Amino acid sequence: MKTMAVVGLQWGDEGKGKIVDLLSRQHDVIVRCQGGSNAGHTVVVEGEKYALHLVPSGILTPGKMNVIGNGVVIDPVGLVEEIEDLRGRGVAVGENLMVSDRAHVVMSYHRALDRAQERKRSGGAKIGTTGRGIGPTYADKYRRGGFRMGDILDRGFFERVVAERVAENNFLLREYFGVEEVSPEGTAAEIVRAADFLRPLVTDTALQLRKFIAEGKGILFEGAQGALLDIDYGTYPYVTSSNTTAAGIATGTGLPPSAISEVLGVLKAYTTRVGTGPFPTEQENDVGEKLRESGGEYGATTGRPRRCGWFDAVVARHSVGLNGCTGIALTKIDVLDGFETVKVCTAYELDGRRIEHFPAGAAAVERCKPVYEEISGWKVDTSEAREWADLPAEAKLYVARLEKLAGCRVTMVSVGRERSAVIMRSEGH
Ligand code: IMP
Repeated sequence: MKTMAVVGLQWGDEGKGKIVDLLSRQHDVIVRCQGGSNAGHTVVVEGEKYALHLVPSGILTPGKMNVIGNGVVIDPVGLVEEIEDLRGRGVAVGENLMVSDRAHVVMSYHRALDRAQERKRSGGAKIGTTGRGIGPTYADKYRRGGFRMGDILDRGFFERVVAERVAENNFLLREYFGVEEVSPEGTAAEIVRAADFLRPLVTDTALQLRKFIAEGKGILFEGAQGALLDIDYGTYPYVTSSNTTAAGIATGTGLPPSAISEVLGVLKAYTTRVGTGPFPTEQENDVGEKLRESGGEYGATTGRPRRCGWFDAVVARHSVGLNGCTGIALTKIDVLDGFETVKVCTAYELDGRRIEHFPAGAAAVERCKPVYEEISGWKVDTSEAREWADLPAEAKLYVARLEKLAGCRVTMVSVGRERSAVIMRSEGH
């Protein structure tokens, strides 16, 4: 059976949760590979809304195995809450969830440092992080000062080391950032409690995944955030701290790159971004407001209003290339229903020159002026469309134009929040 990756091609919030939820029915195992509880995957099932942060979206489909891979940073306290919340709403979580023993642990001081660093950054240097401790946890991982899930299960080791790690970080919090310290006892106690709860789920997930592949099981890799938030290829430093592109799947799961057969990139029919950083097609006007309200563009994790703008094909090309997409899922096209005309950015003008690639530096991206093409809108409700033929001609032309500019075929079009609100586009169309 084939494996498939679902990755975001913009700045996150493309609607991956819904696509993964839909595709999880055709796969046996759903795997998170990077990021942490900064992600907020909103899935609506039978009118019930679920905002998942760490648990893969496949948990909402009975009979599926869900895996949190080693590339994810796990807040154990948050994970326990998420599991309890799901169980409270009647979703079974138990043997259908595995957590990597190599995944790094988000500690109380990581969350405190994330917020303190963000507060200290001045004006334009602010990243607008989710405050979930993501950056400091990955920083500790790479400077070899982190705890992994396996470490917190080893109580003897954990209790020997934790006081010193808290003291080191408290020094920073107190002396450099001038904020309140975290409690050493409280930190140790909350982790020990959560570790005991999570113990039955923690295992060598790389080994398990290899076994699943050998058994011919279908595996779906659930990306978090989007390519423009990638630590290497995003709008650095206004990015998250992991590799959000398909490349991160191998290191984040322990599977070889050759284990990924298909890559479905998710693009929203317009663009949004939360947090700060350059966003060439942003519309700080009525258009942006209309997109935000019609699209319900408020963060699933932080509730922050998302910045909104037109579709950016320079971004799409950059991301399709980085991910090696074999298909595109285009989401929320129904949000554009009310527009007379819609704009698509086809290139940028940078310092008087036309460019068609995405520049490396945030300062250069900030100076990019979008070159727009105006396309006529459809002014028809598309939310009930379930077949390609149901879409108005202008909407079909819009899709055709986007895929030509992005360099990859649109294979799915999503027209609403519900699982059923999707058009699967067959080869001939
Ligand atoms: P962090 O990942 O919390 O460090 O935040 C870094 C940047 O990534 C900020 O601009 C966040 O708003 C953004 N970000 C992180 N996770 C998500 C997500 O799931 N969706 C959209 N933006 C995100």
